[in-house]
Parts: sequence; structure tokens; C-alpha cells
Amino acid sequence: MAILSEENKVLIFDTTLRDGEQCPGATMTLNEKLQIADILDRMGVDIIEAGFPMASNGDFEAVRAIAQTTKNSTVCALARASRKDIDRAAEALEPATRKRIHTFISTSPLHMKYKLQMDPDAVYAAVVDSISHARNFCDDVEWGVEDATRSEPDFLCRLAEAAIKAGASTINIADTVGYTLPHEFSSLIKDLLRRVPGIDKVRISVHCHDDLGLATANSLSAVQAGALQVECTINGLGERAGNASLEEIVMGLKTRYDAMPYHTGIDTEFLTEASRLVSNITGFVVPPNKAIVGSNAFAHESGIHQHGVISHRGTYEIINPKAVGASGTQLVMGKHSGRHALRVKLSELGYTLGENALAEAFERFKALADSKKEISDEDIGSLAEEIIDTVKDATFKKKEHIGVTSLNITTMADATAEANVTLSVGGRPETMTANATGESSFSAIISAIKQLVPHDDELAFVRLNGLSMNDNTQTKVTVQLGNGTRDLIGEGSGADPNMACARAYVHALNQRRYDDTSSSNNDGGSSRDSSAS
Ligand code: KIV
Ligand code: ZN
Repeated sequence: MAILSEENKVLIFDTTLRDGEQCPGATMTLNEKLQIADILDRMGVDIIEAGFPMASNGDFEAVRAIAQTTKNSTVCALARASRKDIDRAAEALEPATRKRIHTFISTSPLHMKYKLQMDPDAVYAAVVDSISHARNFCDDVEWGVEDATRSEPDFLCRLAEAAIKAGASTINIADTVGYTLPHEFSSLIKDLLRRVPGIDKVRISVHCHDDLGLATANSLSAVQAGALQVECTINGLGERAGNASLEEIVMGLKTRYDAMPYHTGIDTEFLTEASRLVSNITGFVVPPNKAIVGSNAFAHESGIHQHGVISHRGTYEIINPKAVGASGTQLVMGKHSGRHALRVKLSELGYTLGENALAEAFERFKALADSKKEISDEDIGSLAEEIIDTVKDATFKKKEHIGVTSLNITTMADATAEANVTLSVGGRPETMTANATGESSFSAIISAIKQLVPHDDELAFVRLNGLSMNDNTQTKVTVQLGNGTRDLIGEGSGADPNMACARAYVHALNQRRYDDTSSSNNDGGSSRDSSAS
């Protein structure tokens, strides 16, 4: 059982709007940044790094606007170890309810020599001065150690001690170039915790880049070593190969609580929505195989896997798709899929097949799969429709998309009629009602149905037959609708001829597939999610 206390809470510091935006081509407008900040705030991100105010006026304005609108998260602004940068960050953060200044400097020999052109003593002095200066504006000051993983450990410890004395409450250990390995990073964090006086009073943060594809692994290994803040971005957006991805860190901790007993404050059901928002805004397409939020993250094609997840989702899924806001387990139909999955897919689309029909459907499906890379729901629907016409299978039945719930006809003195029609559409529980008048009860019914389910098809012909069943006379109605491309034939029966007409008309409409309003899981979702482990 998860024990959720402050001691084992890992703070999530999102830097999509700062490091993420530094990714070439990911520039965002103010309005787009506000949309992203809003979802980060709602999903429970602890700290939003909103930008680098000294970098541009646009960044300054964005940090200020986010500071004004963010309700729960702490808003953070980045600053170099310079008073001017810090003043600008503080000014941008003024309206924030909770604010943090993140001041950083490089500490590796390579960076100090070639980038900063400063000797270690000058870096030491800059650390002390920048943190002390930032503390004039807010209590919450983070010291960022750029290129920490390529720095001299003794020097790093000396600087960390000075930073704590100067007033930093978070020490951010950055693997700026994505160079470290999980076991090395873990040792570094343990070393700092063991060697730096006063480190128990502050929080260690980690900021990992993904140059070797290790950003998530390094971050999680640091958490196990005692880091209680992780810096990350939605979809792993960021400089070069990107940053550690927020969704991976959060779901890694949640899914493997057994091995890493830490929790975050993130409402994970927002993860898919946040990923799509960032992808749409930046134009950075999420690869289909991206962990947690890729379109294939919960998709199964092979027959063996499909059979497994149909029997028990846990066989091939370690995360419930609903937990990350995804639509559900998807059975992707392709040449590796089996008969069992085809039956389930057909049923999701509204078709129940008897054994003969299924055998025929499976044969045709395999032939199609050999000639086509991706088999869509539309393809499967068409295949089922063809089989309806050719295979006589008593148990073969197509679920109706539109159903007539009730019908009332009022006939006027002048022989015109008013119809009050209530329909259920797409399997939704709520119904829809419309009134219409017409020259006959049937034309009034058609007008009312057209209001509820707009369509272009015109009535081509109607035939009414009376049939007697044990003194109970039933009317059987056959209608034909046409729209120039395909004729739709419908049949309906009942003791009331008007109801029989309405049923026949709706039955004809049901021969066409209403993909836009369909409830038949055309997103590939599955009701089996309720059996999630
Ligand atoms: O990667 C990095 O070192 C950074 C710093 C600003 C923390 O982004
Ligand atoms: Zn970075």
C-alpha cells in the first residue's frame, strides 16, 4: 500500500516552457504558453519554470502573464548568476502567488574555461553573490549547477555548501549534456547527501538531458538515491535530444511504487491531454512508440498479444490506459491478428457474428490484411456489410445505431399530421425528440427524423403489407432510400402502422454507418478496461 507523506513526495518541476522552448523550432506564443501553463497547473505540477526573462521581452511577458494566472503551482523564472538577470526575473515574477528564482552557473572545468572564462574562485564568488541577491526578492531560491556531472566532485561539494549558506533551498544537479549513467548519477547524489554540511535542510533536484536516451533512468536513479525534485518536460521536449519526460517520470514512480516508494502530486489522467496540447502547439509529433503517450502505447496487433489482453489486460499492459487519460486498450487489426480479436472488434463496431459468418469474415480479413498495411474500423465495417449480404447465418445480427424510442401522431382536421418522434442515437443513454408536420403521418415522421439525424437520402419507395399473427395484425413496411450512390433498404413491423413506418425508415438509415456520432468505440476503445489490474 502506498504511503503518501511529505518525506516521500517527489516534486515535479516542469520546464516545458523554458528548456522545452529552447528546443529548435519549438517557439511558442504567449497565448500558447498560457494554455500549457494552465494544464500544468491543473494537473498538479509543483513548480512551473515559465521562462528566462532576461533572454527576451517575449520571455519576460510570458513569465509575468503566467505569474498572474497560475493558481496553485509555484512559478519559477530562470536567471544566470548575474544581478541584472536576477532583477529581471524578480520583476517578471512580481504578480505570482508562489514564486521561485532559479539562478544557475556552470561548474565543470570545460565550461568554466571555455564558456564562462572564469576561474573556480570567481565561480564560487558568483554563486554566493547571485543566491544572496535573489534572496532579496523571494525565500524560494534554487541554485542550478550546469554541467554538474562533469564537474570536480570536491569543488561541487564546496559550492553546494556555500550555496546553502547563501540561502538556496533547492540545489539542482544538472546532467546538462546527458552524459552520466544511472549508477554514476546515483553515487553523485549520495555523495552530496553524505558530504555537504546542511544538505539535509535543502532539497536536491535533478535535471537530466536525453543525449544517450538515459534521462528518465538517470532521474529515477537519483530519486532512489535521495533527490526529491525532478525537472522534466511534457513529451521530453528540450535542448537537443530533450529533457527527461514528465509522463515517464510520473508513471515510472506510480507504476513501480513497489521498488521506488515515492509519489508525486500529479493527476495522471491529464497526461495524454497535456502531451497532445504540447504536440499540437509546437508541431513536434509524438512518435507512435513513445512511452505512456504515444499512439501505440496501448495498441496490440499480434494475435498472441490480442488474445492475452482480451483475457486479461494485465498480460501485456502494465498501465491502465484510463489512468493516463488515454481512450483505452486498442486492438489494431492487421495480418498478425487472430480470429478472437476480429470477433471482439466486430462486436465493438456493432456486429455479432455466428460461427459461419465469422469464419467467412476471418478468411476475407486475412486476404485484406495481406494486401493492406493498416486495416481500419471502416474496412472491417465494410467487410461485415458484405458478409451480411452473402452469408446466411442465423445468429448474425447488426446492432442498430439509431433506434425509435417513441412516436406520437396527431391527425389534423385537414388530414395533415403532426409527428412527435423520439430517437436514441449511437447507443447514448439520452434521447432526442423532434416535432414536424406533413401531408401524411409518414411524411411528418420523415421530417421529424430528418431534424434529428440530418441526411440527404430521399424516399424512393414504400410498401406496406398486413400480416396476421394469431389475430394480432402486424404491418410490415419496406422502404427504399437513395442518395444517388447507394440505395438503402429498410424493414420495420408492428401493430401500429406508423411505428412500423418509422422503424423501417430508421432501419434503412442504419444501413449506412454514422462514424462521426457512432458510439461503437471507433476510437478503438474497449469496454474491457474495467477488468484492469
Ligand atoms: O541543462 C541545464 O544545465 C539547464 C540549466 C539551466 C539547469 O537547463
Ligand atoms: Zn537543461
